[in-house]
Amino acid sequence: MRPLLEKLHKDHINLARLLDLMSSELDALNAGHEANFDLKIEMLDYVEHYAEQSHHPTEDQINKVAFRKKSMQQHKALYERICKEHVELIGLARNYRKTLEGAMQGEVLLREEVETRGREFVALQRQHIDLEEHEVFPLLEKVLNDKDWQKLEQEISHGEDPLFHRQDFNRFRSLIDYLKAHENE
Ligand SMILES: [Fe+2]
Repeated sequence: MRPLLEKLHKDHINLARLLDLMSSELDALNAGHEANFDLKIEMLDYVEHYAEQSHHPTEDQINKVAFRKKSMQQHKALYERICKEHVELIGLARNYRKTLEGAMQGEVLLREEVETRGREFVALQRQHIDLEEHEVFPLLEKVLNDKDWQKLEQEISHGEDPLFHRQDFNRFRSLIDYLKAHENE
C-alpha cells in the first residue's frame, strides 16, 4: 500500500475504534447511566478537528487527481457521493455537538435527541469508511502511478494525529484516560 493510503487506512482504524466507543457511550445513555457529556464532546472535537481538517482534505486532494483520469469517468457517481458525504458528515457532527451542548446545559428533553444525533453520525461515518476502504482505495491504487503519488506526497502535509499519538494531552484529557481504561476491550 502507498504511504499516503497507509496513513489514511490507519486513521480509519483509529476512527472506527472511536466510533465503537461513541456507540457504547450512547448505549450507556440509553440504559439510563450517567451521561459523560465531556467525553462525548472531546470525541467530537477529535473527529471535527483532525478528521475534518486533515483526513478528509487529504482524501479530497487524492480523489481529485484520481477521478480526473479518463478511466475513472465511469466512477463519477462514486466521486460525487464521497464528496457529498464529507460535507454531510460535517453537518451531522455539528448537529450532534449542538444537541450535546444543550443537554450539558441541563435541557433534559435533549437527552433522547443526543442519542438520535449521535447514532446518526456514527452510522454515516462507519458506512463512509467502509465505502472508502472497499471501493475508493482499491481504485486509487489501480489508477494513480508513481509520479502521481510523488506529486501528492509533496503537496500534502498530513499532520500528526493529536489523539492517537498522545501529543495533545490537555485538549483530549478525558478521552485519553478513557481510551487507556478501555484498551483491552
Ligand atoms: Fe476516510
